[in-house]
Amino acid sequence: MGEIRVALAGVGNCCSALVQGVEYYRKGGGLGLLHPTLGGYRIGDLRFVVAFDVDHNKVGLDLSEAILAESNKAPAFREVGRTGVKVQLGPSPDKVEGDSMSQIKWAQGEPADISKALKEAKADMLVNLISGGSDKASRLYAEEALKAGCGFLNATPSGIANDLSLSAGYRRAGLPLAGDDLLSQVGATAVHIGLLEFLHSRGVHVDESYQLDVGGGSESINTLEKTRDSKRLIKTEAVKSSVPYDFPLVSGSADFVDFLVNGRDSFFWIRGTYFGGAAFTMDVKLSTEDAPNAGAVLIDTIRGLKVAMDRGLGGPVEPVCAYGFKRPPKRRRIAEAYRLFREFAGDQP
Ligand SMILES: NC(=O)c1ccc[n+]([C@@H]2O[C@H](COP(=O)([O-])OP(=O)(O)OC[C@H]3O[C@@H](n4cnc5c(N)ncnc54)[C@H](O)[C@@H]3O)[C@@H](O)[C@H]2O)c1
Repeated sequence: MGEIRVALAGVGNCCSALVQGVEYYRKGGGLGLLHPTLGGYRIGDLRFVVAFDVDHNKVGLDLSEAILAESNKAPAFREVGRTGVKVQLGPSPDKVEGDSMSQIKWAQGEPADISKALKEAKADMLVNLISGGSDKASRLYAEEALKAGCGFLNATPSGIANDLSLSAGYRRAGLPLAGDDLLSQVGATAVHIGLLEFLHSRGVHVDESYQLDVGGGSESINTLEKTRDSKRLIKTEAVKSSVPYDFPLVSGSADFVDFLVNGRDSFFWIRGTYFGGAAFTMDVKLSTEDAPNAGAVLIDTIRGLKVAMDRGLGGPVEPVCAYGFKRPPKRRRIAEAYRLFREFAGDQP
């Protein structure tokens, strides 16, 4: 099928897991994947061709070194040889000086011309993995990718696939777009939806539920300082759709605990009613590594976006958005989104 030329904005923890994961699964399948092959593309077909960051610990390094640089805390599970891709300085329109706990050490210098760099690298798509809450930068990357004739995948909570003017621009240009806010493989939102869908399918009435997270990655700081309300809204909306009635629900990240490193502890509480009015409560704790949780879904949605590109589809690609993101322009049940995505990719549901 040929290669998929991927540009990266944000060489943080998720990026580290993605780049290592492509090396880890290069030769074929293995545990932990949803689709070893998707739409005819193997994982080894992904090729990273250009990367941008704003942290002086990463800018100027080869991608293979930058993924392990401070302040990344993602586990190192696969050695990556030199890629020949030097991390370039990206724009930082959201930069705030002051008391933020942000771990970014801002690099000095003239930012790269993003669309020019994308064109020179012959990138098929730009994958946006920058810090949550950097809304202006996310938008800028989406505009630059459009200018360069690239597809765009927005893993961040910023509204890009849900932005009407950006999605119209991508539609007009015949370029695919996917987003917003990646739905992690065994992330709290996916697990919460799964639990509630299961209880509903067993005839249980869900009376109330909450789900709260604490994490040690820099993204937990961003959630605390910048995206707490928007994340809570996105997650609560996503979870709410899992049963066909309203009930009191809170879903969102709660705090930063530095010694968890790249770990995340997710707490789930559900109170419900079943036969004869009997009540039950459920208390669940899920402990995960944050960055690898993005890997399998990124690898799938990147290939899904390339399939859309091969077919000349422009604008938000519904099956890719519904399958891989917490806030797609059109929401589907997890099982239905999975089936649509596989059908779209030409694989058997
Ligand atoms: N872990 C998951 O499974 C998951 C799930 C859903 C969404 N996400 C989203 O993915 C994104 C990445 O998450 P992460 O854990 O890797 O975060 P991270 O903080 O580890 O990495 C973010 C990287 O982006 C860089 N950056 C910040 N502003 C930039 C700019 N303007 N241009 C270029 N680079 C910039 C930072 O220096 C850092 O290297 C976040 O927006 C997060 O909300 C992650």
